[in-house]
Amino acid sequence: MKLCMIGTGYVGLVSGVCFSDLGNNVICVDKDKEKIKSLKKGIIPIYEPGLEELVLKNYKNQRLNFSTDLKESVKKSDIIFICVGTPTKKGGSGADLSQIYDVAKEIGTSINKFKIIITKSTVPVTTGDEIEKIIRKKNKKKNFSIVSNPEFLREGEAIRDFVYPDRVVVGTKDIKSNRILKTLYAPLISKGAQYLNTSRRAAELIKYASNAFLATKITFINELANLCEQTDINIEDISIGMGLDKRIGGRFLRAGPAYGGSCFPKDTKAIINTADKFKIKLSVIKSVVKSNENRSNLLLKRVNLLLKNRIKNKKICFLGVTFKANTDDMRDSSSLIMIPALSKKGAKVSYYDPTGYKKEFDKYKNVTFEKNIKNALNKSDMIIIHTEWNDFKSINFKSYIKTKKTIIFDMRNIYSPSKMKQQGFKYFGIGR
Ligand code: UDX
Repeated sequence: MKLCMIGTGYVGLVSGVCFSDLGNNVICVDKDKEKIKSLKKGIIPIYEPGLEELVLKNYKNQRLNFSTDLKESVKKSDIIFICVGTPTKKGGSGADLSQIYDVAKEIGTSINKFKIIITKSTVPVTTGDEIEKIIRKKNKKKNFSIVSNPEFLREGEAIRDFVYPDRVVVGTKDIKSNRILKTLYAPLISKGAQYLNTSRRAAELIKYASNAFLATKITFINELANLCEQTDINIEDISIGMGLDKRIGGRFLRAGPAYGGSCFPKDTKAIINTADKFKIKLSVIKSVVKSNENRSNLLLKRVNLLLKNRIKNKKICFLGVTFKANTDDMRDSSSLIMIPALSKKGAKVSYYDPTGYKKEFDKYKNVTFEKNIKNALNKSDMIIIHTEWNDFKSINFKSYIKTKKTIIFDMRNIYSPSKMKQQGFKYFGIGR
């Protein structure tokens, strides 16, 4: 099939590349000329394991192309995926849909034959209705169908998640579009993905509901971890004990720092905003957002306590600063709250991340990037394991830490407390 992906962010680029790998002809469009120029040279704008190889392979075999010309690319394609960003509105909590509507206007003037136009970006309920109105204004023939097909891939696992999704949700009442999309997704369905056809609005809401629910699961376990710390219980026993109940399931029950990334913080706020518009209270999700926003402060209090209220001039080293492993994404990472707060209190913060130096910390005093783990750990008063990169899972602390006074605060519960204590380390985790 001939596909056009508009927007080459995470969702657009990864799905475009994977669709081309499944044998489709795909044009990935972006208005950012530099980005398209780089992509044509095989330079990938994001860190995502396995993506570069797939881009190079499919660009070479000409099933994958890149363009800045939206109109021409739409004309050449049968299925158009809108994959532009829907960030939180500046100074608000709802999703900023200006990029979606701008793209819809352009698509509207480029329809030369029947097109299926799909929102893959996460968009609030009724956005599909608005897109339909915009395109109909420019195109009276109505030889198009607007569909919602949310993408559930995670950063760092994006290719695997795209190729082996639990489900493919297609929101449309149009029989023809549904049939075509079922054929497009047939290779994934044959590998076990459930295909679910719903109304367009339901598909839009399924995405927000899923992200809000996962965020709730994490927040729930994070709050229980606080209780475990006071009651000498290991939170991991609780996660396992709960997760063995198939109605609950064990995934997304790992306690840690505040959840971050490009989706959970933005989408939880956006779903509340949508519900407010319909005068519906989503009180559970509201408290999740509040609890998560407060989580970094709670962890900072714990740092303060572990350092006996003496943060000034203490050397604190962060292992990992991205919001999760296998990504270079810093969006809404809890390190963006914790590191500046510690620097303001006079700590000397160093950090190491496998994806390198982060410009986000440039403006803070006494915050330095270290090129390797060894340099980062050297002479630290406190080591904070912030992100669960594999690189941090078997560190020989003995060879780096010269004084037993050093405190290791493992915010991802990577190491065994008993083994660390046996080795004489002052080791602390989350909820245990
Ligand atoms: C998420 C959704 O999982 C994905 O379906 C959606 O399409 C986009 O948003 P992503 O943001 O890439 O994906 O990362 P995810 O792996 O879900 O983690 C999000 C945050 O939750 C991270 O900060 C992570 O550290 C945290 N998390 C996750 C936990 O703290 N505990 C867990 O058990 C799981």
